Amino acid sequence: MQPIKQIQVSLGDRSYEIMLKAGLLQSLNNILNAFCSNRAALVVTDSNVEPLYGEAIDRIEHCNYSKFVFPAGEKYKTVETVAAICRKAVAAGLDRKSLILALGGGVCGDMAGFAAAVYMRGIDFIQLPTTLLAMVDSSVGGKTGVDLPEGKNLVGAFWQPRLVIIDPETLKTLPVEELRNGLAEVIKYGMIRDWKFFRRLEKNSTGLKQLDLDFYTRIIARCCEIKAEIVSRDEREGGLRAILNYGHTFGHAVESLSNFSIAHGAAVAMGMAAAAELAVLLRKIPGNYAERQNSLLRTLGLPVRIPPGLEPEKIYAAMLHDKKAVGAKVKLVLPVAEGAVAIIDDLDSKLIIRAVRNCCD
Ligand SMILES: NC(=O)c1ccc[n+]([C@@H]2O[C@H](COP(=O)([O-])OP(=O)(O)OC[C@H]3O[C@@H](n4cnc5c(N)ncnc54)[C@H](O)[C@@H]3O)[C@@H](O)[C@H]2O)c1
Ligand SMILES: [Zn+2]
Repeated sequence: MQPIKQIQVSLGDRSYEIMLKAGLLQSLNNILNAFCSNRAALVVTDSNVEPLYGEAIDRIEHCNYSKFVFPAGEKYKTVETVAAICRKAVAAGLDRKSLILALGGGVCGDMAGFAAAVYMRGIDFIQLPTTLLAMVDSSVGGKTGVDLPEGKNLVGAFWQPRLVIIDPETLKTLPVEELRNGLAEVIKYGMIRDWKFFRRLEKNSTGLKQLDLDFYTRIIARCCEIKAEIVSRDEREGGLRAILNYGHTFGHAVESLSNFSIAHGAAVAMGMAAAAELAVLLRKIPGNYAERQNSLLRTLGLPVRIPPGLEPEKIYAAMLHDKKAVGAKVKLVLPVAEGAVAIIDDLDSKLIIRAVRNCCD
């Protein structure tokens, strides 16, 4: 039997562990023993995840828990749902020593984490991510929050979990499009921080397509290690953490111009293609390096061409509105060597538009 993989996120007295193993949800009762004894807890989950994995929660014996189930989907990641979670917490008798558990994808984790950050001025919370995106990205690092009608993630807090419990078995029920959203982030980690890891993904793309859980467990572990290292060095995105936005400034523009009909992972894949193209135009990387990234993205079913109807000038204008833009200049994360990126801010708008145009169908 594989041992439980443990990864430390080092943040002084806010440090925590990521526990990772296929089938781990079966042992939830034992794992939570140390955390839960005699505490009231609220499990937050969504309407898709509850019927699939709610039963694992029902086996918890050590704490007095209640459940809050919200309708699945980004459109419920709102202050209203957070208010409903907090009111449920009051009704269930949660006090300052109580605990919130987030069982679900990034929407659930962001929202339950934010509720934990503000309920009684902050209580403990535990992440139980069930999407690949949440396992490799959103459950680690302490960014929590909700959307406003004016934009995504405009209200939030940095609030680190006390523990992250990852069971890759839950990926078996995840729709393929959701899996792809996570794979875009997985490839991103290779491009920004670890070329050897990128090459492992290339070599075992069949394992990724066939959901080889052993391989996924190792892949998720490496992504969590990279994210943990970056967050430990720059918790509040003063500098280094911004490299996690690779592909995202272009990607967010594509997402919002498509009225979110293009999925996050697909938009980020197009964004990474555009960023790599810009790096080629700036002679920071050779064309065959950009192609290697794009080829892996394509192999895993992710698009690298921007569909017709999204004009390069409009994409650029939308990038200026993105919160990562400084003044009138866009700051971008661009590849500069195998498995390495740099943050570049003095970019010519014409060149950015040309790079986008080269990626448009
Ligand atoms: N906090 C951060 O650092 C951070 C980082 C990246 C993204 N995010 C946020 O994460 C959110 C996106 O997360 P997501 O992609 O996980 O979306 P999500 O939480 O909406 O999950 C996607 C879909 O999969 C379903 N689902 C979840 N687990 C399942 C499973 N095991 N089997 C079957 N269905 C399952 C959900 O019900 C939902 O319909 C966005 O709101 C984004 O802003 C946050
Ligand atoms: Zn992302």
